[in-house]
Amino acid sequence: MDEQTDGGAAGRHTPVLLQRCLDLLAPALAVPDAVMVDSTLGMGGHTEGVLRAFEHVRVVGIDRDPQALALASERLAPFGDRFTGVHAVYDEITDVLEDLGIPAVQGVLMDLGVSSLQLDEAERGFAYAHDAPLDMRMDPTTGPTAADVLNTYEERDIARVLRVYGEERFASRIARGIVRRRERAPLTRTSELVEIVRAGVPAATRRTGGHPAKRTFQALRIEVNGELAALERAVPASIEALAVGGRIVVESYQSLEDRIVKRALAAGATSSAPPDLPVEPATHTPYLRLLTRGAEEADAEELARNPRSQSVRLRAAERLRPTPDHLRTPRRAA
Ligand SMILES: C[S@@+](CC[C@H](N)C(=O)[O-])C[C@H]1O[C@@H](n2cnc3c(N)ncnc32)[C@H](O)[C@@H]1O
Repeated sequence: MDEQTDGGAAGRHTPVLLQRCLDLLAPALAVPDAVMVDSTLGMGGHTEGVLRAFEHVRVVGIDRDPQALALASERLAPFGDRFTGVHAVYDEITDVLEDLGIPAVQGVLMDLGVSSLQLDEAERGFAYAHDAPLDMRMDPTTGPTAADVLNTYEERDIARVLRVYGEERFASRIARGIVRRRERAPLTRTSELVEIVRAGVPAATRRTGGHPAKRTFQALRIEVNGELAALERAVPASIEALAVGGRIVVESYQSLEDRIVKRALAAGATSSAPPDLPVEPATHTPYLRLLTRGAEEADAEELARNPRSQSVRLRAAERLRPTPDHLRTPRRAA
């Protein structure tokens, strides 16, 4: 049966800018015994593309979502030991590679955010369009749920989450509504949250800017999964995992994510010499080379094929040399 129609991994998520990712990774993956880490395996679409395009490459696929890992592993089983799936958070990349006995890799790919699978599985609570328990954990086996956040955080902290992670103008009003509502009974369902958001957003603004609950749901998802903190640690750790000549490609879908990626790549691509030195010491020259001019976006063709690509911002860089000692972040003690 065609995987596109049987509910298998391939039919559940269309990889964004796949060919561009393959083109960017190609020079790094051309070496014998090349290894790539797909830090956001999802439904395995990008990984399958890599395994097909580069027949000698081995991929380590990380995902914190056990359901995604299971579906992708089934899809990628025909590639045998060229694919290894690991259940982990992507900031654990150093430990994952150490456990597998891999000292350095030639590529790292990160396709951030949620997968279509997660949005489509109504019961997981990611989508404002379906009534479901307020969960939103990418790894449903651990950590606080969206209900825990909404029922236990102080009002001002809920407002901060909505304002910062959702860029929600009416964060304070929505947070007030949440706290009033939970004084009667704890919130348990996504439909209750949607109702509170609707009441908190003035009618005049409700007519523009898409669904009024979109920003609130995005903000909560980021908070529940600690997404930005994990990304802050993961990008430098992924760069550290790259061999010289190795390449990192990151696809972000939201401005806060893209800013973290931009800063981490720019830090490596900029001289660390004080500006007043007459000659740049060799120790302070950049250790990364940017491969994209700013952030690349999807073109009209990609957009027509894959609506998810609408907000994508793609950045990539190549490692030129080892990170100099004075810029290395010490590893956390175990
Ligand atoms: C956009 S999807 C990736 C789709 C994939 N590129 C494909 O073509 O099928 C993002 C995936 O990354 C996972 N993810 C998000 N944040 C993560 C993190 N901090 N650590 C590990 N996995 C994460 C999600 O569970 C989700 O399955």
